[in-house]
Amino acid sequence: MVDIALSWDFTEEFVTEDEVLTQARLKAEELGASPVPPSVGALLKLLANLSGARAVFEIGTGGGVSGLYLLSGMPANGVLTSIDAEGEFQRLARANFTAAGYESTRVRLFNARALDMMPRMNQGAYDLVFIDGDSLEVPYYLPQADRMLRPGGLLIITHALLGGDVANPAKRDEKTAGMRQVVTDLGKAEDYETTVLPVADGLLVAHKVAAAN
Ligand SMILES: C[S@@+](CC[C@H](N)C(=O)[O-])C[C@H]1O[C@@H](n2cnc3c(N)ncnc32)[C@H](O)[C@@H]1O
Repeated sequence: MVDIALSWDFTEEFVTEDEVLTQARLKAEELGASPVPPSVGALLKLLANLSGARAVFEIGTGGGVSGLYLLSGMPANGVLTSIDAEGEFQRLARANFTAAGYESTRVRLFNARALDMMPRMNQGAYDLVFIDGDSLEVPYYLPQADRMLRPGGLLIITHALLGGDVANPAKRDEKTAGMRQVVTDLGKAEDYETTVLPVADGLLVAHKVAAAN
């Protein structure tokens, strides 16, 4: 028999966080900013690193935990652009990026609602788009994320399984139905290669396929 809970704990404890990340996580949790768990953070770092992402766009700065992981996987000239509606969270995130030794030019923070800001971002300008904002709004983020992402880029969405609700056809509330539609649409889209990983609350990773010449 597979013990999912035991495996789950193991994957979280498997990741060792340094002092800056440990403190950042503690402060983010105190503030109620819901940082990504270590398993997701480590995967973000790996994917940013493997894809060579220089321009990363994030919805949901929170206290900066996911941002710290992304930055640690990006090259030294990479820039993280991150949006959050909560200024207090972003002040903590800025302090955490500074504590980790990142120059202020490496991180552009916008205190705004994602759907107000995304249409103003440049088309095809981002190598990686990471969505960790309001799960209810993900269907509305998707067209903008697609517009902003360059061909060959990566789209990553948290809470893609919503604690099992997405897989349960009896669950039809707006948030679940919306996330299920996003997962289904990306799974069928010819211009994306998509996988959903059962890590934490589900992580969707989609590669925007570059058009053949
Ligand atoms: C799960 S937390 C992000 C955690 C962060 N990624 C981390 O790992 O440290 C979700 C964040 O999305 C922000 N948020 C929620 N709705 C938003 C919206 N419509 N526009 C921008 N930010 C939003 C919240 O303020 C919150 O900080």
